[in-house]
Amino acid sequence: MSGFDPQWLALREAADHRSRNAELASALNARLALRDAISVFDLGCGTGSNLRAMCELLPAVQSWTLVDNDGALLNAAREALSAWADACETAGDGGLKLKKGTRKLNISFKPFDLNGALAEILDPGADLVTAAAFFDLASPAFIRRLAAEVTQRRAVFYTVLTYNGVQRWTPRRPADNQMTGAFNRHQMSDKGLGPSAGPTAPAQLADQFSICGYSVMEGDSPWRLSAPRDAALIFELAKGHATAVEETGAVDKATIERWLQIGHTGAEIGHTDTLAMPA
Ligand SMILES: C[S@@+](CC[C@H](N)C(=O)[O-])C[C@H]1O[C@@H](n2cnc3c(N)ncnc32)[C@H](O)[C@@H]1O
Repeated sequence: MSGFDPQWLALREAADHRSRNAELASALNARLALRDAISVFDLGCGTGSNLRAMCELLPAVQSWTLVDNDGALLNAAREALSAWADACETAGDGGLKLKKGTRKLNISFKPFDLNGALAEILDPGADLVTAAAFFDLASPAFIRRLAAEVTQRRAVFYTVLTYNGVQRWTPRRPADNQMTGAFNRHQMSDKGLGPSAGPTAPAQLADQFSICGYSVMEGDSPWRLSAPRDAALIFELAKGHATAVEETGAVDKATIERWLQIGHTGAEIGHTDTLAMPA
């Protein structure tokens, strides 16, 4: 499974949803509680997991723009959201009109490479810009550019599950630190948006939004995975880690092979959530 494979995104969705930082989610909900309607932009939306997790936190009428540069993932998002909704119809512009519980959602799907001008995708009237499992892939330059665009619009910014470099594998082995170090270096390679911020992304987000005058809250949202519940996710995660580490050339093949054969029964993978609001 590749990093953006729909099967991989489906496999991680339950862990992603239960790992979100509850305090930040509740602060976001409180900030928006007096509104009846909201316009939301989800960057790097994949198959729409972030929308499914956030729907109940947000006001009754929601207009979502789902942005991704992968057309196949946007198609998968359309299918997954249609199946998830209580009622669903196609809108005139090719988007979807959904009902879920007490919420009404208008969704549009935008194929867009975020290397492009963000003003082309973010409406002047955006109320909330969000993303999940995305910013460790982005470069510090992209984060700076995005913070400038979001704060110009006085929109709220909320992102979850940004990888922060922490890994604890069960059972522990002496090679774990060497593997994590190499993996974190790999995380800082170019993932399509310039050399990635990787595990420094949470700090870069906090700095850039603070510099632009926003109040920033952060909270931990680690994956706490254990078999048998998460056995398939742990297995795929360990495989993905080994592949990334091998690509760095920093750890010899025999060590990587031995590490992969440990038969991991648990993992804690550190993430940070960030909520930034106009003061
Ligand atoms: C790790 S996935 C997260 C997907 C989704 N947010 C979730 O939580 O399941 C990262 C997403 O960012 C998208 N992405 C990566 N680079 C992008 C770019 N330059 N422009 C737009 N989307 C991009 C990928 O296609 C993928 O859907």
